[in-house]
Amino acid sequence: MLERTYTMIKPECVAGRHIGDVIARIEKGGYKILGIKMLHMSKQDAGKFYEIHKARPFYGELTEFMSSGPIVAMVLEKENCIADYRQFIGATNPKEAAAGTIRADFGTDIQCNCVHASDSPENAKIEIKFFFSERELVG
Ligand code: CMP
Repeated sequence: MLERTYTMIKPECVAGRHIGDVIARIEKGGYKILGIKMLHMSKQDAGKFYEIHKARPFYGELTEFMSSGPIVAMVLEKENCIADYRQFIGATNPKEAAAGTIRADFGTDIQCNCVHASDSPENAKIEIKFFFSERELVG
């Protein structure tokens, strides 16, 4: 079944001029980009987006970091997209990510881990809606 996920290239990866590298990996990996935009989140927006992590000790730093510079937001589509994409980008901590994955190659540490990816169909729906209206997504 075709599935959609939400991903974003994080501020340190944009600042490091790896947008093209990451998008090339995504396209070559068989993911179709249905929507794409670059934007700079406010701290409040980052706080809302990562609300599920509100109780975690890294929440403050995370929202600071995610609002520190522009990000590239994307909606991807593929069969079994959510689980496959999480495998494709590698573990949250780039030091533990499998060789050849986006996070292993472009991530710095557990916070500056290059890309975000939705972790479930429910969260994918919420996260896509957070950034894109239906008419901003190609069919
Ligand atoms: P992401 O996949 O965007 O989901 C939550 C983010 O919190 C994670 O990637 C990291 O950028 C950040 N983070 C910082 N510290 C931790 C941690 N100890 N465990 C998990 N995520 C962390």
